Amino acid sequence: MPELISYELVQDDALCVAVLTVNNPPVNALSHGIRVGLVNTISRFSEDAQADIAVLVGAGRTFVAGADIKEFGEPLQAPDLEEVNAALDGLQKPIVCVLHGTALGGGLELALSCHYRVALATSRVGLPEVHLGLIPGAGGTQRLPRLTGIAAAADIISSGRQVPAAEALELGIIDEIAVGSNPEVAGIAFAKTLVTEGRSLRRTCDQTDKIERDHENSDLFRELIETARRNAKGQQSPVTSVESVIAAASLPFEQGLIQERRIFDALVETDQSKALIHAFFAEREVGKIPELATGKARDLNEAAIIGGGTMGSGIAMALLTAGFKVRMLERDQDGAERGKTNVHSLLDGALKRGKINAEQHTNLSNIAFSVTTDVSNLSDADIIIEAAFEDMDIKKTLFRQLDAHAKPDAILASNTSFLDIDEIASVTSRPENVLGLHFFSPAHIMKLLEIVVGKQTSPDVVATGFALAKRLKKVGVRAGVCDGFIGNRILDNYLNLVTNLVEDGTSPYDIDAAVTSLGFPMGPHQMLDLAGLDIVYANRRRKLAAGWVGRYSADYLDRITQQERLGQKTGRGVYIYADGDRSGQPDKEVISILADIQAKKDIAPRSLRAEGIRKRFMAAMINEGARILEEGIALRPLDIDMTMIFGFGFPRWRGGPMKYADLMGLDAVLADIRRFEEEDPDFWSPAKLLVDLAERGQNFDSLNKPSQTK
Ligand code: 3HC
Repeated sequence: MPELISYELVQDDALCVAVLTVNNPPVNALSHGIRVGLVNTISRFSEDAQADIAVLVGAGRTFVAGADIKEFGEPLQAPDLEEVNAALDGLQKPIVCVLHGTALGGGLELALSCHYRVALATSRVGLPEVHLGLIPGAGGTQRLPRLTGIAAAADIISSGRQVPAAEALELGIIDEIAVGSNPEVAGIAFAKTLVTEGRSLRRTCDQTDKIERDHENSDLFRELIETARRNAKGQQSPVTSVESVIAAASLPFEQGLIQERRIFDALVETDQSKALIHAFFAEREVGKIPELATGKARDLNEAAIIGGGTMGSGIAMALLTAGFKVRMLERDQDGAERGKTNVHSLLDGALKRGKINAEQHTNLSNIAFSVTTDVSNLSDADIIIEAAFEDMDIKKTLFRQLDAHAKPDAILASNTSFLDIDEIASVTSRPENVLGLHFFSPAHIMKLLEIVVGKQTSPDVVATGFALAKRLKKVGVRAGVCDGFIGNRILDNYLNLVTNLVEDGTSPYDIDAAVTSLGFPMGPHQMLDLAGLDIVYANRRRKLAAGWVGRYSADYLDRITQQERLGQKTGRGVYIYADGDRSGQPDKEVISILADIQAKKDIAPRSLRAEGIRKRFMAAMINEGARILEEGIALRPLDIDMTMIFGFGFPRWRGGPMKYADLMGLDAVLADIRRFEEEDPDFWSPAKLLVDLAERGQNFDSLNKPSQTK
């Protein structure tokens, strides 16, 4: 095992360079051991009479990517990172830091405390603490503005974005972009130049030119805070991060550090930070599923899509830009032409926005993509994704044809949003090669991919589904078979709740306002108008035909739909949309329709306040999530959280519905549901799992433990 921090003297002509290397794979996170090692080796360099200058590098694929996030929430073990940085500030001999990979958070703060910084051309730097609900806690908000000025530091820190090396050089964050790809070699070469040019030690904390320039620029400060507030959409730390950066212009360095630390320590305790840290690890955990232990992903090169509508073309676009050859099957020549036009217009859009260049556009449109009306032309495809009309008979017919024509080991996937994958697979002679790949619209943009595993789907096919998600840069979530899988099942349930509340007297516009105040990008009715009321209507018809369970309260939506008011696409739905306007205005006629329905059904309208709406909305999601877990449809609570964050606009800083429940306390959630049950027993009854966990004093997170999922 290499030492956590190795120390090596390299003699280069007359110069003796001490090379300090951080060895903590995979991303050299600044764990307790690393901090101790750094303090010791910095001190060793300081006392080493032989060493003239030091170079600090990271081993492996990246320089340090930040503090060890796993240690957050545990009592801090000294030394903290700022003590390491103070040791660097205290050096009387120069130290050069070499950045490669991603120098992030505490990693960049460490680099900012060195006297010079060199970066490999492909490296990126950033202070992404806001993505964890935090601000930089080891001097980042005080040292970065000293190098870049207040405005640039506020932008970088409040957005958490990764800054490419070239921009970092322009902003003054680094001193040079190194030639070559070896950090140690680059560092030694830079050290030599420094000594040759007689440049001496230069501490970031002593640099004041750029912050003095903005010293009393209160207009700038106000604007920076306003911008951060607007972009943060309810999240707290981006705003406080800017306040801390601004403090660098007025407070002496040491006091700025104390203030930064105070804010950091307070933020670590917030629900927002706990939720975001949960989301960080859940995003990495969600792809670790039992099938990967035995399954081996198949090679995929050629893909076929059935259906050239909105979903089919979006999926084709996602596959094309990920390097697949894609053939699209349509029923007839007209359909094929429409599909081709749809895909070409998506490619045109990508060209216009600079996502692809002209050469790629030509290749993808004319070479990689083709259309056909003959199913036998799909026999070369490694994977066939059906995105045809949402009807079981149509799908069965198609899968029978695919079974006859697809090559034996081709994967046959359905993009169905609700239907039973096992029933679809049953018409083929190879159910082990069938699975659901449920994309979300627009499929080339939305990050979620539900990977629906049927009774007979083989581990290899599941593993291939997850490898495909990765290649498409999507978050794959494993789901079992049930009506709506994870996401649409939860959606259906809360739409049911919402229609009950509306019919009972709460305005649909108040419901949308309450839901957006939670941090969702839109309310349920805005979402229905965007998706098209006809689509949701068709789904309700399907469920009514199959025997609706519970109270049917969507008469107002039915009436609006029957009047051909289908949402944004017809300029009128639950809202009215002025020409070209995508944010609708409330419609008085909808209110009249509701009054009429209430009169006919003899309902005495009762309107809920925002807090009452919010509590019921969240409780409905949590309760259905618990049922989904109980039935084994989702492997773990975190799979539900990832589904709702990446597919349904659940605010990441609330962690997903199951994390939200944990933060609220399951006792409190259960007490709410029992209260709601008294007023509407048809809709509410607490899930057994929720009751069991609350009684045992446990939370959903206890079910996220890897040992329980393997
Ligand atoms: N602490 C602990 N573990 C970390 C970590 C960190 N800072 N960063 C990454 N990891 C872990 C991941 O959980 C993952 O573990 P796993 O293999 O068991 O799932 C493993 O390292 C590899 O990470 P990725 O799968 O994410 O690898 P990528 O190559 O895709 O991405 C990365 C690398 C860009 C560095 C990405 O991991 C990342 O963004 N990390 C977080 C960076 C960050 O937020 N830094 C700030 C931390 S807070 C801080 O520094 C506070 C300071 O101001 C005091």
